[in-house]
Amino acid sequence: MSKNVLVIGSGGREHALCWKLSNSPLVKHIFCAPGSVGISSNIKVESVDLSLKDFPAIATWCKEKDIDLVVVGPEDPLANGIVDALIPHGIKCFGPTKAGAQIEANKDWAKKFMTKYQIPTARYQSFSDANAAKEFIKNASYPALVVKASGLAAGKGVVVASSKEEACAAVDEILTDAKYGVAGQTVVVEELLEGDEVSVLAFTDGETVAMMPPAQDHKRIGDGDTGPNTGGMGAYCPCPLITPEQLADVKEQVLQRAVDGLKAEGIKYVGVLYAGMMVTKSGPMTLEFNCRFGDPETQVLMMLLESDLYTIMRACVDGTLKQVQVKWETENCAVGVVIASKGYPETSTKGCVISGLSQVQTRPNVVVFHSGVARGANDSLVTAGGRVLLVAAKRGSLRTAASVATSAAAAIDFPGAQYRKDIAHKAFSNSLAHAE
Ligand code: AMP
Ligand code: GLY
Repeated sequence: MSKNVLVIGSGGREHALCWKLSNSPLVKHIFCAPGSVGISSNIKVESVDLSLKDFPAIATWCKEKDIDLVVVGPEDPLANGIVDALIPHGIKCFGPTKAGAQIEANKDWAKKFMTKYQIPTARYQSFSDANAAKEFIKNASYPALVVKASGLAAGKGVVVASSKEEACAAVDEILTDAKYGVAGQTVVVEELLEGDEVSVLAFTDGETVAMMPPAQDHKRIGDGDTGPNTGGMGAYCPCPLITPEQLADVKEQVLQRAVDGLKAEGIKYVGVLYAGMMVTKSGPMTLEFNCRFGDPETQVLMMLLESDLYTIMRACVDGTLKQVQVKWETENCAVGVVIASKGYPETSTKGCVISGLSQVQTRPNVVVFHSGVARGANDSLVTAGGRVLLVAAKRGSLRTAASVATSAAAAIDFPGAQYRKDIAHKAFSNSLAHAE
């Protein structure tokens, strides 16, 4: 019997999850709350208007609609306890409880946890007193430091400081000026790590860890990693900047250790555990954990997932992941290029008519995932956010996939559209690259 699924969220990540779930013969209908125009363009998917603050109302709605599985995309509802609220009603949820989500939502807790379970990470200290933090920075033996608000600050709240003065200014901003409100009541000050950043995600049922292929995000707005940070301007997968041996270490020393550690803390962690790794000269080090799928990594990962996503998610929820084979397309690579609106990341321009979409969507193995797109006049699609779309292409090499995705991005237009022309290029120039 095929099932009804509710996906929580509205971004490109959730679009990719709905797209992949819709390919499952086991899934009858997908609701997405709040969803988007792009998400519900699929005949199996419907956007629904549910308040993400009212968990009891979501539980009642799930019962009415006979929802078999709830998949939570973003971190905020997880950190606010959506899973804890739904489970007592007998609703199955793919995503961790509030206690599990602390691994992302409370960096101070996450650093203590990593230290306790010997998960490789940068040296650090936490502070809630600005003077103590600045004193520590002045005396720190490591010259370059990163200052982080401990709580969830909408992807912001991390300052990679190039001098001790800059690090002290960041402490003042976060602790004294309360720039991020309660999220900044504690700061984590840590050693700056150098290397390539790689996102290693895994499915887990709280015991078994099934790794996804490594992916890389591109955080800066400009080509060559220049300009301000963004929510992510593109991603590719697999990322050759981490070796198979290093990946095996990440599985054993980071992901499995974290899941076992969480279990030892009394937390059964179900869902995706995302390890943000820095591949340093002395090996991979953990920058952060996220308690969910990454955006834009998910868009490229879903292009390469061969197995049925619903089956994997149900196995995570049912504690049977060990019995499921999670297969990826090993002969293919996926590259995703984000198209952002004018002024992003400082501002965004809304209401610009988007052209070229239908032409691009007919290209083989090219998929457009919507982030900030709304319905305009006369059935047009218009921009409705900073990051507007991601165009993903799947091909036999990263170089070809990058070239196809980038030319597809060039064919989509609206006034002020910006996209990077070098997504995945780092992978070709690296001597380790098995990207050809
Ligand atoms: P986080 O949310 O902790 O991952 O930090 C956001 C971004 O800041 C990361 O993706 C890195 O680019 C950067 N970052 C965080 N911690 C460090 C560190 N210890 N060394 C260098 N860069 C870092
Ligand atoms: N791609 C970074 C994140 O999802 O947090």
